[in-house]
Amino acid sequence: MIITHFQAKKLLQAKRSGASKLGISLDLGKTFSEVTIKTDRFIFPEDQVIKAGKVKKVLKKNKSCFFIKDNDIEKIQFFNHQTNKYYKLFPARDWPTIEISGIRMHVTKSMSPKKDTEEKLRFIGPVFGKVLDTCTGLGYTAILASRTALKVYTFEIDQAVIELEKINPWSRELFTNKKIKRQKGDIFNKIKLMEDEFYDIIIHDPPRLSLSTLLYSQEFYNQMFRVIKQTGKFYHYTGNPGKKNRNVNLKKNVMKRLRIAGFSALKDVFNGVVGERL
Ligand SMILES: C[S@@+](CC[C@H](N)C(=O)[O-])C[C@H]1O[C@@H](n2cnc3c(N)ncnc32)[C@H](O)[C@@H]1O
Repeated sequence: MIITHFQAKKLLQAKRSGASKLGISLDLGKTFSEVTIKTDRFIFPEDQVIKAGKVKKVLKKNKSCFFIKDNDIEKIQFFNHQTNKYYKLFPARDWPTIEISGIRMHVTKSMSPKKDTEEKLRFIGPVFGKVLDTCTGLGYTAILASRTALKVYTFEIDQAVIELEKINPWSRELFTNKKIKRQKGDIFNKIKLMEDEFYDIIIHDPPRLSLSTLLYSQEFYNQMFRVIKQTGKFYHYTGNPGKKNRNVNLKKNVMKRLRIAGFSALKDVFNGVVGERL
């Protein structure tokens, strides 16, 4: 069971209004469950008893999601000694995002992670055939692409992210949807082992440039060009980092390298670049 400040607010409001029961989501909006309200505590499913004071603390922490377990509330956050980074599930308006050492993987301010994912796919829609989703993250692009694609091949390098995929109710399909083929590994190396002209669509949604320079390199774009079909299309998320503060036009440089790789019909779209092989 997972709660965030959204559920904490509803629970405390219901308690104040004298309600004895409340239906709320304990899986970040996927389904609804009933919580019993007592004067000083809440009784969650599986007889988990949580004191009202603990729920009040969640109300103030709007940047974390919390497990309800062992009659207690525990932040969904951990440190990975291998990568030397903090990972946490970050609540948003609909689907949560991941925050890795302070950097979020989806847009959360101007739009929700769900809308962010829908936008990415809209630029290359309709998604069909065999899809390469280079960076799984929470699997949102892979899951939405699988609605219309034949098969989605997706790669995630970081075991800590995979642990969060397992926890996040909105990532569950990654493990159950037969159209999605997940692999743990570094796409920079994995792509070199792939067949020529295999994919109809490539969704390239890497971390920001400073965290993954190789995924923005000429070598990687050459591989993207090699594995995409003649009729293939791609979407490359770039965001707009550096534009405001420094005179760095990331997109311009990305487009230059994509053109050298052989891609055409390159278009600057919101937060990214789209293009075709033909
Ligand atoms: C922006 S997120 C992807 C978000 C994803 N599209 C979604 O819908 O949730 C980038 C992900 O790429 C992963 N990553 C970074 N370098 C990678 C690499 N070389 N190979 C595969 N995955 C990588 C990161 O761990 C992170 O989970």
